[in-house]
Amino acid sequence: MEKIPTGIKGLDEMLGGGLIPGRTYLVKGGPGAGKTTFAIQFLMEGVRNGENVLYVTLEEPLETLKEDMAKLGFDLGIPKFHGIDATPVTERKHLFAGAFYEEFGESFERLTGAIQEKVELERYLRVAIDPLTMLKLTVKNELEYRKTFIGFLKSLSKLGATVVITSDLRTSDIEEYLTSGVIELRTIEAGGKILRGILVKKFRGSPFDEHIRPYRITDRGIEVYHTENLFIE
Ligand SMILES: Nc1ncnc2c1ncn2[C@@H]1O[C@H](COP(=O)(O)OP(=O)(O)OP(=O)(O)O)[C@@H](O)[C@H]1O
Ligand SMILES: [Mg+2]
Repeated sequence: MEKIPTGIKGLDEMLGGGLIPGRTYLVKGGPGAGKTTFAIQFLMEGVRNGENVLYVTLEEPLETLKEDMAKLGFDLGIPKFHGIDATPVTERKHLFAGAFYEEFGESFERLTGAIQEKVELERYLRVAIDPLTMLKLTVKNELEYRKTFIGFLKSLSKLGATVVITSDLRTSDIEEYLTSGVIELRTIEAGGKILRGILVKKFRGSPFDEHIRPYRITDRGIEVYHTENLFIE
C-alpha cells in the first residue's frame, strides 16, 4: 500500500510507513503538546520532496509562527510553502511571499472558499488546518456541526491532498469518527513529572503500533521513540 512519510520517523514506523495519501487525519493534543509543530513538520516533509503545501492557521499568526518555526529549522518563507492566515486581526499588513490573509475563519464555508481559491492556482499534495477548535465554535449546535463537518471533509477530499487537522482535547469526538485516522499527543503525569506520549488511536485501512510511545520536542521538531515504552522502570 502506498504511504507517505509524516516527517516524523518514529511515527512513520508506528504507522507502517506513514499516512495513506489523499485522506484526512486528526491530530489531537493539549496546550503545548506539539500540534502546530506536527502540522509544520508534516508539511515541510512534503516541501522536502518537492511538493506544494498549504498551511491554514486559525489561532497563531503566521508571522510569529514563522519566527518560532525558524528555530526548529523550518523556513516557512520558501516558495513551496503557502499559508493562509485566518487568525482574527485588526490590522492587515504585508505577509511573506506565498502567504495571504483571509478574514478571520468565521465559517467553514468561507474557509473552504479560501482554500479552493488557492487550489485553483496551484495543486497541493499536503494541507494542514491548525486548529479546528476556532471553526467549531462558529457552528450553533451539535447537529449543525456534524453536518457542516461532513461537508467540510468532503470538500477537503476533493482536493486530492493529504490533510492534517489539529484539535484540542476538549473538542468532542465526532471528528474522531469521521476522519481516516487519529493521532493523539498526550501528556501524562507520573512520578511527579510530565511524560509525553504519542498514540495512534485509529488508522483506517492499515495496521499500526498500538502502544503509546514517548516523544519529545527538540530543536529538530517532534521526535518519536518508537522502540521505547513510556514507563521504562
Ligand atoms: N527546541 C525546543 N526544545 C524543546 N521544546 C520545544 C522547543 N521548541 C518548542 N518547544 C516546545 O514545544 C511546545 C510548543 O509546541 P506547539 O506550538 O507545536 O504546540 P501546540 O500543541 O500547537 O500548542 P498550542 O495548544 O499552544 O497551540 C512548547 O511547549 C515549547 O516549549
Ligand atoms: Mg498550536
